[in-house]
Amino acid sequence: MLLARAFSPARGLVAARLWWRQKHTLPDLPYDYGALEPTIGAEIMQLHHSKHHQTYVNNLNVAEEKLAEAKARGDISTVIALAPALKFNGGGHINHSIFWQNLSPSGGEPEGDLLAAISRDFGSLENMKSQLATQTVAIQGSGWGWLGYNKQKGVLQIATCPNQDPLEATTGLVPLFGIDVWEHAYYLQYKNVRPDYVNAIWKVANWKDITARFNAAK
Ligand SMILES: [Fe+2]
Repeated sequence: MLLARAFSPARGLVAARLWWRQKHTLPDLPYDYGALEPTIGAEIMQLHHSKHHQTYVNNLNVAEEKLAEAKARGDISTVIALAPALKFNGGGHINHSIFWQNLSPSGGEPEGDLLAAISRDFGSLENMKSQLATQTVAIQGSGWGWLGYNKQKGVLQIATCPNQDPLEATTGLVPLFGIDVWEHAYYLQYKNVRPDYVNAIWKVANWKDITARFNAAK
């Protein structure tokens, strides 16, 4: 059995070709780096997107390449050992891909079914923002605060995730709006005052995108 699953150059080549076809790429921002000013400065956006997100994409591709090679040679130990890198870098890619869409220079406000659901589950829009801010500001170290949708219960919920843990894979909630509270997301502008950043981000919340995610999740 072991012999049959041993690595062969041909199998490795197939794995490499498969990986190349499925390689992840950095998505373009739907606006310019300076479009969210003054809420989020252009330098933060440029570094955050072109350096930090790009690094998650690169490292995810490396981890997936190693995974494909390990699977091709039946190396289960390496497959298991790659799980943290896949979770961290895959989560970083998923989270940031949502984050860019969640933001918009045109802002807006929730309405219709989404506003009704927010009012039903939190009492009011202001209560939801306040609860999300409180829990997000309280994250120890790096992580994300989320407004999510619980499909089983049919309700909106707030959750926080450490590091780059992706919301849906770790809690089951469908992500609607995420606040990145890694220091790379705000420190150049807001320094150590995380609450100011978390409260200001609503000025550039893309309610069109949040509404579309809510409608798709229902
Ligand atoms: Fe980030």
